[in-house]
Amino acid sequence: MCGIVGLFVGCSALAYCPRKALTAPAAPTGGADGAAEEGTRGAGAAEDTTYTSPFGRWWERSSVRQAPRRTLDEPSSEAVRYFSPDLVPVARHPLIAKLRPELFDQVLIQHLYRYLDFTAKLETLVVNRTVLGIAGGSVGVELPEEMRFDAYKIYCDEAYHALFSVDLMRQVRDRTGIAPRLPRQPYFLKRLEEIQATLAPEYRALAELIFVTVSETLISASLAEIPVDDGVMPAVRETIRDHAVDEGRHHAYFATFLKYLWAGLDRTERRTAALLAPRLVDAFLRPDTDAIREELLGYGLSHDSAEQVLAEVYDECTVAAHTRLTAKRTLHYFTSLDVLDDPEVAQEFRTYGLL
Ligand SMILES: [Fe+2]
Ligand SMILES: [Fe+2]
Repeated sequence: MCGIVGLFVGCSALAYCPRKALTAPAAPTGGADGAAEEGTRGAGAAEDTTYTSPFGRWWERSSVRQAPRRTLDEPSSEAVRYFSPDLVPVARHPLIAKLRPELFDQVLIQHLYRYLDFTAKLETLVVNRTVLGIAGGSVGVELPEEMRFDAYKIYCDEAYHALFSVDLMRQVRDRTGIAPRLPRQPYFLKRLEEIQATLAPEYRALAELIFVTVSETLISASLAEIPVDDGVMPAVRETIRDHAVDEGRHHAYFATFLKYLWAGLDRTERRTAALLAPRLVDAFLRPDTDAIREELLGYGLSHDSAEQVLAEVYDECTVAAHTRLTAKRTLHYFTSLDVLDDPEVAQEFRTYGLL
């Protein structure tokens, strides 16, 4: 998850992370818990789309229903960390690696804070607004009843993800005495609003639907970057794992939702949505270099050193490679809708590094 995904651009854990399993061609539905229910036909909105609920065992398996509260254990040794350096791109840079140990720990802790804050705000400010609209039937997409009912389960999941993220952030703050340094407005929201401001009013809601679909299919890939580092606090690893398991179901749901959405759009709306998709992927994935620069300056780095770290950690090639890898399945869902038949759309996907 960095945005959520942007937080992990260039992370060295990519070489061994379980995300590889997620980059295989997607099963369209069926879910993370392997408990698909009987398919439900869309009511004529998408004749070729069958909904197979990924939430067959949600009552027993969702984190909100079965996971315990994750709490920090008593510190067992000085070596236990709050986040894996492998998942913090700037931590690998020599100028950061040589910081005093207490400052280096702060780099990891602030990264954890950003990750948790991102999660809480994404879920509450964007995703759940859309999900509630899906559940209530107000997003203008004709969906099977089962699918609208499942949206209530996602709503509960996301609310719990926000709660456990804020809970963990408060625990870490109280344990360490290190205050979170967080942007007033999360960058993904700022970028989404900037994109919406360029659109005619009638397309702004569509942009948000595409943004949520994109983020929900990108997010599970990013969450698969679960810290496998045993040196990281168990509460942190378990919180991320709880989230990843739920997001696997959401990913399957939104891959199907996109088909229903598409079936209900006219030609002009489809073209608008297709042109928006790469910009929205970029809005979600592009690292928040302004916030990271501010943070680096706070550790006493000079402006030149901070710029050097940013330029070397987030070089164009690394960012582009991360975008392509992370967006692989999301891209597949859009290309399956033949969006690339339009040369202007294909060019837009190329411009944002997706092709
Ligand atoms: Fe979530
Ligand atoms: Fe989700």
